Amino acid sequence: MTLPQPYGDYQIEIYLNGLQGVLPELPMDYTELERRAASAMSPTLLSYIAGGAGNEFTQRVNVSAFEKWGIMPRMLRGAKDRDLSVELFGLNLPSPLLMSPVGVIGLCAADGHGDLATARASARSGVPMIASTLSVDPLEQVAEELGDTPGFFQLYTPTDREMAASLVARAEAAGFKGIVVTLDTWITGWRPRDLSTSSFPQLRGHCLSNYFTDPVFIDRLGHRPEENLQAAVLLWAGLFGNPLTWEDLPWLRSLTDLPIILKGICSGEDARRAKDAGIDGIFCSNHGGRQANGGLAAIDCLPEVVAAADGLPVLFDSGIRSGADIIKALALGATAVGIGRPYAYGCALGGTDGIVHVLRSLLAEADLIMAVDGYPTIADLTPEILRRN
Ligand SMILES: Cc1cc2nc3c(=O)[nH]c(=O)nc-3n(C[C@H](O)[C@H](O)[C@H](O)COP(=O)(O)O)c2cc1C
Repeated sequence: MTLPQPYGDYQIEIYLNGLQGVLPELPMDYTELERRAASAMSPTLLSYIAGGAGNEFTQRVNVSAFEKWGIMPRMLRGAKDRDLSVELFGLNLPSPLLMSPVGVIGLCAADGHGDLATARASARSGVPMIASTLSVDPLEQVAEELGDTPGFFQLYTPTDREMAASLVARAEAAGFKGIVVTLDTWITGWRPRDLSTSSFPQLRGHCLSNYFTDPVFIDRLGHRPEENLQAAVLLWAGLFGNPLTWEDLPWLRSLTDLPIILKGICSGEDARRAKDAGIDGIFCSNHGGRQANGGLAAIDCLPEVVAAADGLPVLFDSGIRSGADIIKALALGATAVGIGRPYAYGCALGGTDGIVHVLRSLLAEADLIMAVDGYPTIADLTPEILRRN
């Protein structure tokens, strides 16, 4: 399924509802979304979602760096009919928007099944979900809820190669259309907010269902996880983070014929090496500033990565908070654009409906900017339409 188009007509729906006295229940701007979601979550969950590494400079600059760019409006171009569709790994997607993997999205929904809520939002909206390795519900159940919308599986590569191969094989069997390998999180960054409440959900046994249902994991454990949860969590902690090197890429490549996308690449040199290694796509991201503080704004890394990727698809996330940000990332060369925290907040406020609302709002704003500024297709969004503010 896809959302009603043009996406911008979401505003007409809202204004017409207003004529019947019905006002939107969900927030219409990001600040309000964040504020209201904060009161819907427990303090520890909130700090895990909203927080970042160090004093959160990277996280803040990820967002503020978008303001350095302005979009040049062009008139008399008749942008009445817009086309936001993109092609990605042979898939025709109705929009360039993606839901980036969020490990604890499961815990964000009121019923504790936010992975399924996200998958249902993906089915309703046509916006692909990149399902995290860390989930409340196993990847097979997530895949079942995706409907006709293609999904991707994000891999935190375990140290045990057989376990990694098992996860990839399961994702392939479940129908996911690509494997997003996250490179920047084989170790957790220094996160003062979580440290001050000594809270790390996975160590409390949360969001580990993909491990606890995995035959290789169960084999290594020697018993069912529920028989001794502490032992299962300890095994997970030992298996979780594999500090991969370029030498591991041929092995990763050999695991699947699905497209492999490397997430966390911010330098042109790394993008070039990834391309040479036969990788199918680059995901320019700094994990939303959650991993290493003192970094560059992700959007400022994008042009270098796009140039080095030399035609390979480049996905982008970190700091997208509005439709305008989506347009700017596309103009700087992203093939598709992901969001993390915004849909986690939507999930906390309204489950599937909350996520769909966030997606519709972002796409409506992007579509209306393309209409007003005279850029009817994604191909019209090039670096030339941007100026420094
Ligand atoms: C609470 C939280 C959990 C995350 N979990 C994962 C994960 O499991 N795998 C992954 O590759 N990225 C993970 N990310 C990073 C996101 O995929 C994405 O890169 C980031 O959220 C984008 O930045 P934004 O939140 O500013 O949109 C997580 C992000 C957040 C906020």
